[in-house]
Amino acid sequence: MRPKVIAGNWKMNKDADESVELINGLITRSGEIPNGVTVILCPPFTSLAIAQRLLDGGPMALGGQNMHYEDEGAFTGEISAGMLKSVGCTFVIIGHSERRQIFGETNDAINKKVKKALSAGLRPIICVGETLEERERGVTEQVINVQLKGALQDVSENEVSRAIIAYEPVWAIGTGKNATPEQAADVHNYIRKIIGQFYSWATAERIIIQYGGSVKPENARSLLATDGIDGALVGGACLKPDSFMEIVMAAGS
Ligand code: PGA
Repeated sequence: MRPKVIAGNWKMNKDADESVELINGLITRSGEIPNGVTVILCPPFTSLAIAQRLLDGGPMALGGQNMHYEDEGAFTGEISAGMLKSVGCTFVIIGHSERRQIFGETNDAINKKVKKALSAGLRPIICVGETLEERERGVTEQVINVQLKGALQDVSENEVSRAIIAYEPVWAIGTGKNATPEQAADVHNYIRKIIGQFYSWATAERIIIQYGGSVKPENARSLLATDGIDGALVGGACLKPDSFMEIVMAAGS
């Protein structure tokens, strides 16, 4: 049985004071986190240090939303894996579709980040997903295949089992239009098959595959109850304690 993993991707939301308010709201309800459910908060960089202090000793883990693949140096505006670790991060989102589309991140850069995250001891949440145009053209599997192969180039079997894959169809992100459990399960099964081909079936069986894209309290239960969907990467609905906690609780039922 794979554990369920629910991550909240705050994106570019919440200043320092607002972050404290949201985290305190979640801490108040953290006793309700079901057994076997891992909860990860990914606030903006500017809130990581305060989040670390507030979350210290509690059940919720911390993750970055992005990182650079170099250790240090002249990379204005960037953050390293070591910096994320120094403020308590154990996870990092890599290759989110907004990074790919708005900031031009390539599969090659994503691969470098994945390898650096793993060697630094962070668990990468690797995002893959097709656009609406690609789905309508019937090339979803090809797109996922290229993204996965690109991200996992030269990643060993030992390391890959620490990675999480997030299937996030671009057309479902922030649109209110989630993939149906059947649509998501089809792609999750395909991803597991690819991991099985790259590595082994044992590793494919172990790897956590989250779904992301308009996950809300109203659809979380049916998505998370679906075979092969091991968790959720939540955007909009993670910005309020109650809606995020409802999704966390849906993972336990
Ligand atoms: P959404 O975002 O839940 O707001 O659709 C998900 C994501 O981008 O990770």
